Amino acid sequence: MPRRPRLPTLLAYLLLITLALLLYVSAKGPQQQEGEVRAQEQEGEVLEGGWGAGMEGQGQRKKRRGRSKDLPPNPHNYHVMISCPNICTGDDPVWMVVMVSSAPGNFHRRRAIRDTWGGATPLAASHAKLIFLLANPHDSHLQTQVVEESRAHGDILQEDFEDSYLNLTLKTVMGLKWGSQHCPKANYFMKTDDDMFLNLPAIMTYLTEAKRERWITGCIKQRKAFRPVNVAPGMPMPPAHPPFVAGAGYVISGDLVRELYQASINTRIIPVEDVYVTAHLARKVGAHPPIHDNRFSCGEMVNDDCDLVQVFTGHRITPERMYHIWDKLNPNGITSSCFDF
Ligand SMILES: *[C@@H]1O[C@H](CO)[C@@H](O)[C@H](O)[C@H]1NC(C)=O
Repeated sequence: MPRRPRLPTLLAYLLLITLALLLYVSAKGPQQQEGEVRAQEQEGEVLEGGWGAGMEGQGQRKKRRGRSKDLPPNPHNYHVMISCPNICTGDDPVWMVVMVSSAPGNFHRRRAIRDTWGGATPLAASHAKLIFLLANPHDSHLQTQVVEESRAHGDILQEDFEDSYLNLTLKTVMGLKWGSQHCPKANYFMKTDDDMFLNLPAIMTYLTEAKRERWITGCIKQRKAFRPVNVAPGMPMPPAHPPFVAGAGYVISGDLVRELYQASINTRIIPVEDVYVTAHLARKVGAHPPIHDNRFSCGEMVNDDCDLVQVFTGHRITPERMYHIWDKLNPNGITSSCFDF
């Protein structure tokens, strides 16, 4: 039988464990504290320096507009590879611009959107315009196809930064910059992804009835215990975010677009697009918190195709299903199976 350890030995073990814990906590501590402080901060320094895979070094910290020749953290001067300056130049006033974040290779998804909810007829009915946000695939074969696609449809905006998951924030900033230059009079901008089904008429009714200015609306994620879907595994996350809406489908009123873009120039990019735009930029321009409506999807699956009659957006829809849902909702001359009469 092993001898029972004596009291001094036990105490020594306890001391060792306590020391190890203390060391661990002090190694982790400063990062967390910084995050908490940042979450509480109001204006100005938010996100300038600190955690995350920002695009610039720590040297930009505490920099203020107008002081000396410091470069802003995010000047967003990428070369425009494909532009579409004429989306909003027609006679008809544009009520809403739908900006769809899309990877260059996702031709089939863009086609499905153009053939269904984002087609010319449904768009015209809602006085809406569609634009796809692409970055550089660094693949000449793909790029040739994208250029051809753009010639055929005229709905692609592409800038020369790397098309990657962690650069999704830059795509939305690109859209805000483009919107403030080329569609300054549009009432609304909607940001969405290429695997989303949008119920444009329902969104239009909602926004028309809301009659609000300077607002952002979507599905606020913190209402549920939710980890943002567009965070890669292992990515550092600050402990707390101000309320933000799900990036897969949110609406910004047109009067904010230019301000949000300008705020982005002096706000370090974080690779979580929805948090960056609808929490941090929104706070800088005084349009925070966003307004929640549970008809915008927070990422949950669409169980029944006919659910899309009630809600604004459906998440993770394959191109095949997109056609299927569209046919159900808008049958050609046959009564829709989604409505009981
Ligand atoms: C984002 O794009 C820039 C410009 O092309 C590139 O230097 C950077 O590596 C990209 N970042 C990520 C995380 O992909």
